[in-house]
Amino acid sequence: MTDSQPDVRDSAAGQSIPLPADPDGMLALAARSMFDTFARTAMGMLVVDRAHRVVWISEGYKRFLPALGRAEADFVGRRVEEVIPNSLMAQVIDSGQPILVDLLANQAGTFLVSRLPLRDDAGTVIGALGLVLLDDPETTMQPLMVKFSRLQRELDAARSQLAAQRRPKHTIASFVGASAAAMEVKRQARRAAQTDATALLLGETGTGKELLAQGIHAASARAARPFVGVNIAAVPDTLLEAEFFGVAPGAYTGADRKGRDGKFKLADSGTLFLDEIGDMPLALQAKLLRVLEEHEVEPLGSNAVQRIDVRIIAATSHDLQAMVAAGTFRADLYYRLNVLPIRLPALRERLSDLEALAEALSEDIARRSGLAPKHLSAAAIEHLAARQWPGNVRELRNALEQATLMTDDLVLTAAHFGRLPEGSPAAAAEDAQDPAPRLPLASKAPPAETVPHAALRDAAQDAFKPLPQAIAELEARSIRQALALTRGNKLAASRLLGISRATLYEKLAAIETSA
Ligand SMILES: Nc1ncnc2c1ncn2[C@@H]1O[C@H](COP(=O)(O)OP(=O)(O)OP(=O)(O)O)[C@@H](O)[C@H]1O
Ligand SMILES: [Mg+2]
Repeated sequence: MTDSQPDVRDSAAGQSIPLPADPDGMLALAARSMFDTFARTAMGMLVVDRAHRVVWISEGYKRFLPALGRAEADFVGRRVEEVIPNSLMAQVIDSGQPILVDLLANQAGTFLVSRLPLRDDAGTVIGALGLVLLDDPETTMQPLMVKFSRLQRELDAARSQLAAQRRPKHTIASFVGASAAAMEVKRQARRAAQTDATALLLGETGTGKELLAQGIHAASARAARPFVGVNIAAVPDTLLEAEFFGVAPGAYTGADRKGRDGKFKLADSGTLFLDEIGDMPLALQAKLLRVLEEHEVEPLGSNAVQRIDVRIIAATSHDLQAMVAAGTFRADLYYRLNVLPIRLPALRERLSDLEALAEALSEDIARRSGLAPKHLSAAAIEHLAARQWPGNVRELRNALEQATLMTDDLVLTAAHFGRLPEGSPAAAAEDAQDPAPRLPLASKAPPAETVPHAALRDAAQDAFKPLPQAIAELEARSIRQALALTRGNKLAASRLLGISRATLYEKLAAIETSA
């Protein structure tokens, strides 16, 4: 055997079948195989000659004959337009153009058909081949049609979801609260919306910084333009630069080969929300400052600059001033960001808003979960007001969500909140080491009369323990509480605990090994 005469092994038969050496032979074989396959599997097939006469019909086709009112002898040899009402075979022969997919309806039913011209070696049309692909396509194709319309509906939903995501979800009015502190926040936010100046939102975790950033954007002249957020704490340091400024095409091999727009570019003409700005590495702070001053970005691997027009809203739960004093945040960047500072109060500083917040959050929870909205009894509100809320409104939302899911009762009482983790993880947070100082808590320890009974009981039952063991146990408990409060969200839990994410992972690993 030579290279020009390859062979393939027919594994089923275990024999060598010589392949034709020439492509034409191969094509002839392909045509014949295709014909044989269709003759066997298609619902029906017929061949018509140049004079429109039916030359041959397949076995499958014969079952349509009674409905067409013909015997085989009265069908083969007759002109196709005489024996098959509405057939377009004649048109295919005359035009030489195939009709790949069509519906044919006559007294025999409705069929999905395909019609192909047949040509001789010189390319002259010598007839046509008709295929009945499906009979009764309305029912046979029903699953396909159902699937198609489902996909179409899903596509529409995804499109409108994407559009909704690009629109800010919140307005300034979404910031619930009528206390003096909350009203002042909203007044400042409205003022910030009227300018393009950089706004800096300062507040503990869960106080509504992101909600307010969206509200400011929505009330600003840029409302119809994009609102793009980047959570600096959630992006690994090494990827932040590309995330911010983008990557030029060809800068890297692999996934980024085509280049990628950075968040500054995506937010062009809109608002860029720099969340957790206090977590920005020092090296990048200098670059960010330059961009803010020059309104130009330079994608990685490019030496061309792009002009950008973005309004910056930054937010942090860290005490930036203290970070500047400690040398972990650049003073020049701090002053550049601190043009319109808005301080968001902690929940415990505006407990008079608790009832309105609980009501608004319950409605939202009901809307999202599809469950009936719950009301809170006066005793429940009192019970909730006695708590410390280190996780602020987010923690309140989690508490309401848990209570809502736990019971079918329409009125939530103090008892429904009894099973929530007790005590305040904030106390543990104070002792834990934090690379960045936090905003001071207004009152760090619960008043003596609100110390939960369980804590007293625990204290009485706990026998004396060596200090390292007592500390380790306290630490493990705080970590478990923080994870329960944040429903296992490690980033949020680390913030609640006042430690870095890396430290939380280390401590969790240590707890697991000692358990
Ligand atoms: N004033 C408010 N009115 C209504 N809902 C609020 C309010 N403040 C916060 N929330 C709700 O609490 C949750 C947390 O708010 P948000 O994410 O804006 O907080 P944050 O300050 O950005 O927290 P973090 O620092 O942890 O990122 C969200 O579900 C938000 O809708
Ligand atoms: Mg946030």
